[in-house]
Amino acid sequence: MIGSTIYRLATCASTNDVAKQLAAEGAEDGTVVVAAEQTGGRGTKGRGWHSAPGLGLYASVILRPGRSDIALIPALAGVAVAEAVRSAAGIEARLKWPNDIVWRGKKLGGILSESSFRGDEVGHVVVGIGLNIRHRLADFPADIRPAATSLRLASKKPLDAARLERALWASLDKWRGEFERGRKQEIVRAFESRLVFPVGSRILVEKDAGAFAATLRGLDSQARLVVESEGRTVLLLPSEIVGLSRSYALTR
Ligand code: BTN
Repeated sequence: MIGSTIYRLATCASTNDVAKQLAAEGAEDGTVVVAAEQTGGRGTKGRGWHSAPGLGLYASVILRPGRSDIALIPALAGVAVAEAVRSAAGIEARLKWPNDIVWRGKKLGGILSESSFRGDEVGHVVVGIGLNIRHRLADFPADIRPAATSLRLASKKPLDAARLERALWASLDKWRGEFERGRKQEIVRAFESRLVFPVGSRILVEKDAGAFAATLRGLDSQARLVVESEGRTVLLLPSEIVGLSRSYALTR
C-alpha cells in the first residue's frame, strides 16, 4: 500500500534524495517521504523547485515495480494528483505533458520521477510530487510568480491537507495497481482526458533545434506524445521538448 510507511521530515535538501537513499537501504514498496521544507528541491531538466516551509506538499514515493516498462509511471502519478486535488479541493487540475499539474494555465505542481536499474531490471522508482498548496502570490519568487498558482489561490477556501494526502495515496495506489495489471490504455486515456491542450488541438512544439506546429493526437503506451505534422506522425520524448504551447497559426 502506498503510504503505509511515511517518513515526515521538518526539512531536507530533497525528498527524492532521501527516498533514493532509503530505497538503496531496502525500504519497502509504497514508502513515502514528506518534508515540510526542502532546501534543494529539484524540478525536471535541472531546474529547482521552490519549497518554502509549510507552503506546499513535497513528497516522494518509493515504488518497486513488477514490470520493466515503467515509462507511464510519471503519467499515472499526474493522474493521481489531479484526482486527489479534485476530491479534496474541488479543483479540476489539468495535465501538461509530460509532468506538469496545471490550473487555468498556471503551474500548480509537478512530478519528478527517478529510476534505478540493475542491468535491464528496474530496481526502484522514486516518484517526487510537488504541489503548491498554501502559497499567496507574493510567496512565489518573482521570476516564477507570473506562471505559478496554488490550491489556496485556486479554491479560495481552506484546504484539509491531511485529507488531500490521504486522497493522493489512495489514488496513487489505484493507478499503480492498474499499471501492474498492464492496463496501460486506461492510464493513457485518464491522462489524455485531463490534457491542457486536448487531443485534436493545434500546438506549437519547441525543441532545441527549433519550433514546429502540429496536431496533438495523444499519448502512446510509452508515454511519448504523439503529434501529426505535415502529414507525418511524430513521437516526442520528454527529454527532447523545451516547451509546448497552443498554436494560433491559421494554416494546417
Ligand atoms: C517539475 O515540475 O519540474 C517537477 C517538480 C517536482 C518537485 C518535487 S517536490 C518533492 C520531490 N523532491 C524534489 O526535490 N523534487 C520533487
